[in-house]
Amino acid sequence: MNKNLTHTKDLSKNNIINILKRAEIFLDEKKRDILNGKLVINIFFENSTRTRSSFEIASKRLGADVVNLDVSRSSTSKGETLYDTAMNLDSMGPDAIVVRHKNAGVPKILSKYVKASIVNAGDGAHQHPSQGLLDLFTITKHFNTYDLSNKTIAIVGDIKNSRVANSDIELFQRFGAKIILVTPPHFLPNKKLPYTFDIKEIIDEVDVIISLRTQTERHTNPTYASLADYGHNFKITKEILGNRDLIVMHPGPVHRNIDLSDEVMSDERCKVLEQVKNGVAVRMAILEHLLKD
Ligand code: CP
Repeated sequence: MNKNLTHTKDLSKNNIINILKRAEIFLDEKKRDILNGKLVINIFFENSTRTRSSFEIASKRLGADVVNLDVSRSSTSKGETLYDTAMNLDSMGPDAIVVRHKNAGVPKILSKYVKASIVNAGDGAHQHPSQGLLDLFTITKHFNTYDLSNKTIAIVGDIKNSRVANSDIELFQRFGAKIILVTPPHFLPNKKLPYTFDIKEIIDEVDVIISLRTQTERHTNPTYASLADYGHNFKITKEILGNRDLIVMHPGPVHRNIDLSDEVMSDERCKVLEQVKNGVAVRMAILEHLLKD
């Protein structure tokens, strides 16, 4: 049976630790022949800079062939259903289909029909498992431990609409971290986790800040006057960080000076570009886990 990655819960803790260990090796950016003869198709129904290109680079570094379907030029514009699009691509014999869609649950549904392994590259506000894994990798690598039981991670911003937050929280809790949500009431998700409306109240106990973009594409009734107004209370600044020993992360794309100030973006504690580099290695390890014979 094909292995899929539609949710972080598809992976056991052992699977995850193996993926993190393999990713550490793949950080050397060398080309390998582990997936020679395999075919990966990327179908992104939502825009992407990081995830799509890093799945493509990861596939190529492992020796697989890659096809990127240009959805805007595909026959979906002629009325072909998502199901038929996926089934037709599956008939061409890919080993994996990497899919991003605005609707939660699409990768899981497709995984019931296609022969290829389905990799969820983000479905609505539901899950972004490869981002969750690369975030976990970045944190465990920084602290040089898989045991996060003495670490506190503050997740800041539009948590309710964030698929990254869902994947991060599930993984970080499994590895023992304490999570504090920092968000205005209208972005508070339905989760039983400690929260505050003011990061200054908890900053002294924080080891990691994960800032999230306001997911404006999912805001049907915005309750803030402007992004600048929102950023006034939730932007991470040098003043908030002080000289504290912590790291700042963000899955991207960053709304500069709304999510993170320019100064924080160029601070050595800011791991945004390291996350992107790690993302290729982690996606190599994910594809190896799913596709290696
Ligand atoms: N982090 C992330 O999913 O970025 P992209 O939307 O650019 O893929």
